[in-house]
Amino acid sequence: MAADFGPETTHDRTAAGYDLVVQRLIPGYASLARLAVALLAASPLASSTGSEVLVAGCGTGAELVEAVGQRPDWRLTALDPSAAMLTASRLRLGEEATIDWRRSSVEAFDANGRFAGALCVLVLDSLPDDGSKLAFLTALARSLQPGGQLVLVDLMRPALPLLKDQMADALLAFQSASGLEDDREIVQSLTQGLHPIGVARFTALVNAAGFGDPARVFQALDYEGFLLQRAS
Ligand SMILES: C[S@@+](CC[C@H](N)C(=O)[O-])C[C@H]1O[C@@H](n2cnc3c(N)ncnc32)[C@H](O)[C@@H]1O
Repeated sequence: MAADFGPETTHDRTAAGYDLVVQRLIPGYASLARLAVALLAASPLASSTGSEVLVAGCGTGAELVEAVGQRPDWRLTALDPSAAMLTASRLRLGEEATIDWRRSSVEAFDANGRFAGALCVLVLDSLPDDGSKLAFLTALARSLQPGGQLVLVDLMRPALPLLKDQMADALLAFQSASGLEDDREIVQSLTQGLHPIGVARFTALVNAAGFGDPARVFQALDYEGFLLQRAS
């Protein structure tokens, strides 16, 4: 574990209920980790046997379960600043999985460009666009080898203002049909204080951080997945 133990985070308080809620909260969540790992496993660098792969903001371990299942040869580093999330993740993965567990933010972790690939699911949207998103993306780009790829999934702001209300209504209908009514408190804690941005702003930020243009690989309502490649 890294030494940067900080104060309890919001995610410390919600880790216990996270897994129960998130599949009913986020359309497409059940497939996200599987898709993200499959995509990265087919990338030019991370397809090599024994590649080093970073899971940034591992939460309760959905991407790690998939990565271990699909690519048991990968050397995985799991990063999260929340002690509760890391504990939940470690319990879920069990003792057999050899993972380098780090309690740290991406920004505070000195990866020194060693990773062939990285996964980052539903983390960027929690950071404000006041320099924090750019610092986070820059740290992710620097963690990768030149040409290394990142699969990033995030809540985005709808491209067409006309669609905003319709997308919001559809999301509520999805959540209601999935039976979320009884979990309003935890839903609020997971959805409050998010900072989604549009694709144009996202593209400007990832370019400034050292990635090429993003390629969209997934969309379910406002949740979108992108493939990013560190510039050589
Ligand atoms: C919504 S959860 C997503 C967890 C997991 N990736 C998933 O899809 O289920 C966001 C996670 O990102 C972590 N996180 C927040 N800021 C971070 C940062 N700067 N660096 C790394 N992880 C961060 C949180 O502690 C939390 O566990």
